Amino acid sequence: MENELNLLAAEIDKDFETATESKALENLRIKYVGKKGAISAYYEKMGKLSKEERPKIGQLLNSLKNKVESLLTEKLEKFSGNTNNEIIDFSMPGYKLPAGKYHLISQTIRRIKEIFRTLNFDIAEGPEIETEYYNFEALNFPPHHPARDMQDSFHIDKGHVLRTHTSPVQVRTMEKCKPPLKIISIGKCYRNDPLDASHLPMFQQIEGLMVDEDINFSDLKGVLKIFFSEFFQKKTNIRLNPSFFPFTEPSAEVSVTCPICQSGCPLCKKSGWIELFGAGMVDPNVFRNVKYDSEKYTGFAFGGGIERLTIIKHSINDIRHFYENDIRFLNQF
Ligand code: PHE
Repeated sequence: MENELNLLAAEIDKDFETATESKALENLRIKYVGKKGAISAYYEKMGKLSKEERPKIGQLLNSLKNKVESLLTEKLEKFSGNTNNEIIDFSMPGYKLPAGKYHLISQTIRRIKEIFRTLNFDIAEGPEIETEYYNFEALNFPPHHPARDMQDSFHIDKGHVLRTHTSPVQVRTMEKCKPPLKIISIGKCYRNDPLDASHLPMFQQIEGLMVDEDINFSDLKGVLKIFFSEFFQKKTNIRLNPSFFPFTEPSAEVSVTCPICQSGCPLCKKSGWIELFGAGMVDPNVFRNVKYDSEKYTGFAFGGGIERLTIIKHSINDIRHFYENDIRFLNQF
């Protein structure tokens, strides 16, 4: 049997040398290591061998089998780029590979940063676990303001909260940098709100701050008008309605003309206007807290929700979609 196996080894070498395409390899696989292949047939004959012969023949067979298998993989790899030696048409469209992409909220954040970069705004950051001082006191919240209430803020311990807005970054930045100043800050905020289609306990905000000599309300309006027109990719008018925030005086709610309809859709509740940001002129008390000369400098600030901006831009009906990670939703953007 040993002789037969040596002959078989030579045949294997010859066969693989002459194989030039993957179909021939498949035939060789069947011929040698298939269920009814030559090597398999010899394995079946092992039972009839004497005790002395068996280990030697067994070893020979194993090495033949390994040889065939490694030749198969080696040659298959060689052919796989071009099976059957066919001519490749390089002008054919390729297979589309599934590619990852930015989450819709990240897309919004990147776009906002891009727009403000063209307006020469820097990007500032602050911590999500914030001291009560930065989250409230430095921003002129009176000691018993309802926003400080346990029901609105997540308290970490005495003196620390999960920041309820990005406005503390204003204070931190002004403490570090002298005016003039032009920054935006984007990040996560937390409020103990009941979960529904327009509220989440974690959401993201953008904050803007500009401080210099002679900054006034029309600068605020101009910057916001450019921002919203760029963001919604269409000419957008803005409206400022009187409002109240402890850290701005005067304060305003900023509404934009509905980017979706001309004269009334469910998104703008048929009013044609959508309220998006809070804004105002920095309160002199805030300047005093950061040791800015409030006689010399004035500034504006604005802030609003990233999810809300995204909802309006893409007509999304429920804020919860953003964080449920349903691929059918995410894939649409
Ligand atoms: N921080 C305010 C809020 O969370 C928004 C705001 C920012 C208002 C800056 C005025 C100026 O609602």
